[in-house]
Amino acid sequence: MTTASALGKIILFGEHSVVYGRPAIAVPVSQVFAMVEVTDIQDAGTGEIYIEAQDMNVASWLHEMPSDNPLAQIINLTLREINASYLPSLRLIINSSIPISAGLGSGAAVSVAIVRALCTHIGTPLPLKRQSELALEVERIHHGTPSGIDNTVVTFNQPAFFVKGHEPEIFHIGAPFTIIIGDTGVSSPTSIAVDKVRKAWKKNTLKYENIFDHIGQVATQARGTIEKGLIQDLGPLMNQNQTLLEDIGVSSPELSTLINAARGAGASGAKLSGAGLGGNMIALVNHGTAELVETALCSAGAVRTIRTEVNP
Ligand code: MEV
Repeated sequence: MTTASALGKIILFGEHSVVYGRPAIAVPVSQVFAMVEVTDIQDAGTGEIYIEAQDMNVASWLHEMPSDNPLAQIINLTLREINASYLPSLRLIINSSIPISAGLGSGAAVSVAIVRALCTHIGTPLPLKRQSELALEVERIHHGTPSGIDNTVVTFNQPAFFVKGHEPEIFHIGAPFTIIIGDTGVSSPTSIAVDKVRKAWKKNTLKYENIFDHIGQVATQARGTIEKGLIQDLGPLMNQNQTLLEDIGVSSPELSTLINAARGAGASGAKLSGAGLGGNMIALVNHGTAELVETALCSAGAVRTIRTEVNP
C-alpha cells in the first residue's frame, strides 16, 4: 500500500489579478489536506483501476467514469506520463478534509495527491515541477485560464510570491503571523467567479486593468512587509485588497458579514481568499485577538474556522 498527501492553501494577496499577470502571494495550510491510498487488487484484470472518493460521491471503475471527471482526468494524465509497460490492478481511496469549491485549493490538492500516490506506488516518482504541471492541466480543463498559483503552492508546499508563467519565488518570512480562516459555507466553484470577472473585464477593460495593477502593487508591498516581519502593516494591506476585490464584484453578503465580524473583533485586516462569491475569508490576528475573532466569526455564521500559522 502507498499513501501520499497534499495540503490546502490560502491566497493572502492577489487572487483574480494573478490570472491577468499580476503577482500574488499564497501559503500552504497544514490543517487541511487531501490523502490518497493506493493498493493492488488481486482479482481484477491487469491495469483496471477502482476509485473510491466518498466526499465526491465516487465509487467506480476508471473506465466507467465520464471522461470529463477531474479524478479520471488526473489519473489518465498520470498513467500517460508514467507510460508503465506493466500496470497491476489498483484501488485508489481518496479522502480530503479540504472543503470543495471554497477557495482552499481542494481540486489542486486532490490532483497532486493522486499523482504522488500513483507514481510512488508504480515506482516512478515525478519531480515536483512535473507534478504541478499535471495538476495545472486538469485545472485548465475546468476553469479555462487558471493562473497556476493553486497547483504551485500545493505542490511545493511553501509560501510563494507567484506571477503566472514564472517560477514561484519562495521568499523569506521575517516574523511568524497567525491567520484565522472563516468558511461562509457557500459553495463557489472557481470557474464561475473567474468567468464573471472575465466578462466584466472584456466590457470595461481599462477599469479592470487599473484595479488589477492596484492589487498587484498591494501584493508586492505585502511581500516586502512580510519579509521585514512588519506584521502590523499587513492588516491594512489586506483591507485594501478586499476593497479592490469588492470593486471587481467577487465579494458577497456572506463574505462581507464575516469580514466585518472579524474586523469588529479586533482582526487587523480581513479579506476574502480564493475565487470569492462564497467560500472562505481570512483574518490577521495576534495572541490577544485570535479567540475573539474565532468566536465572532462563528456567531456571524461561519460554518467553521481554522487557525493557521505562517512561519519563517
Ligand atoms: C483561485 O484559488 C484563485 C484565482 O485567482 C484563480 C486562479 O488564480 O487561477 C481566482
